[in-house]
Amino acid sequence: MTLLDLQQTLNQPTAAHRLRCCTVGGCRSANSLAVKRELEAVIAANDLASQIEVKAVGCMGLCSRGPLVQSDPDGTLYDQVKPNQAIALIQTLLPKVNLSQPQVLPPKAGPLAPIQPSAFQPEHHAFFTCQRRIVLENSGQIDPERIEDYVANEGYRALYQVLRERSPADVVKAITQSGLRGRGGAGYPTGLKLATVAKMPPGQKYVVCNADEGDPGAFMDRSVLESDPHRVLEGMAIAAYAVGASQGYIYVRGEYPLAIAHLQTAIRQARRHGLLGSQIFDSPFDFRIDLRIGAGAFVCGEETALMASIEGRRGIPEQRPPYPAESGLWGHPTLINNVETFANIAPIIRQGADWFASVGTDQSKGTKSFSLTGNISRAG
Ligand SMILES: Cc1cc2nc3c(=O)[nH]c(=O)nc-3n(C[C@H](O)[C@H](O)[C@H](O)COP(=O)(O)O)c2cc1C
Repeated sequence: MTLLDLQQTLNQPTAAHRLRCCTVGGCRSANSLAVKRELEAVIAANDLASQIEVKAVGCMGLCSRGPLVQSDPDGTLYDQVKPNQAIALIQTLLPKVNLSQPQVLPPKAGPLAPIQPSAFQPEHHAFFTCQRRIVLENSGQIDPERIEDYVANEGYRALYQVLRERSPADVVKAITQSGLRGRGGAGYPTGLKLATVAKMPPGQKYVVCNADEGDPGAFMDRSVLESDPHRVLEGMAIAAYAVGASQGYIYVRGEYPLAIAHLQTAIRQARRHGLLGSQIFDSPFDFRIDLRIGAGAFVCGEETALMASIEGRRGIPEQRPPYPAESGLWGHPTLINNVETFANIAPIIRQGADWFASVGTDQSKGTKSFSLTGNISRAG
């Protein structure tokens, strides 16, 4: 199957207006699912499906102002949206339509209420304008449970490209030249780690994604996994091709049920479309990914403890060397990287090492996502 075949089977016509509702993380805990349901009910009651589409998307960033809804194509952001503001929101988009309210209002929706655009408009507010998004470029834009959305946003194009046009050594070189360093804490150069695993004799090798994210207050990896899980799968597959691995594991903490659910969906979809499994894109490359769920031990985020846990042993750090790149899972060479590290790989392949290296500082290239929590004005 070519990528074009995949895009053609998956592309869908879109309505003139779109309302993107964040349905992950902070917004979900602030009742965003009820907001989405109510928007859908108003649209159904007024037969507006051809004019307005409601879309579940991932994190838009300003979590403390959730539930967030953004309208396309104008980009207006609405914050702290309540279910009883659904009619007012749709009326703003279609001022000439005489709207009737859905027959069954949810019991807690309350009386109908007006709505105002947020004071935090993305093009104008410093919270957004100072951000440059690479890892989170699709976050808040696409439905994380639809592979169609990821593919329509250049998803899996980098994997397709490397399997068709680039040698494993060429991929290692590109990642090395990009200057990407591990985002899991130690900042180890990712290209060097790839090169070490690639140099090990052919045979069983593994790729492991560290999604344990145990640091208090940290939710950068959760945002990526909940909002754009295919990006992590694609990064792992490209890395596996570069080092000669055929099996991957994502070790994700059990406290992240939504991230786990979205990963399970993404893996199933990728398998169904031949993007994971045997002979990916009709090439000789085989790669499978399985999930392993952590049981709540902070120390299992440390790579040797994590691998012991995957093997079914007690998660206790072990002396290094040997490093996982030489002797990791079950004694085989293992590439282990953080979620955000893998999430940078597809954009580097798509846009080039020089492009990535042009962003960041002298010693550390690219962007870094941060999570802000605690007693502050704008958590997210
Ligand atoms: C106690 C301890 C906890 C750690 N927890 C995590 C974690 O939750 N997530 C993570 O990616 N790395 C964690 N690390 C770092 C990993 O051991 C490892 O360096 C990292 O997964 C390598 O990926 P990277 O090169 O992409 O950064 C931890 C390290 C220590 C010592």
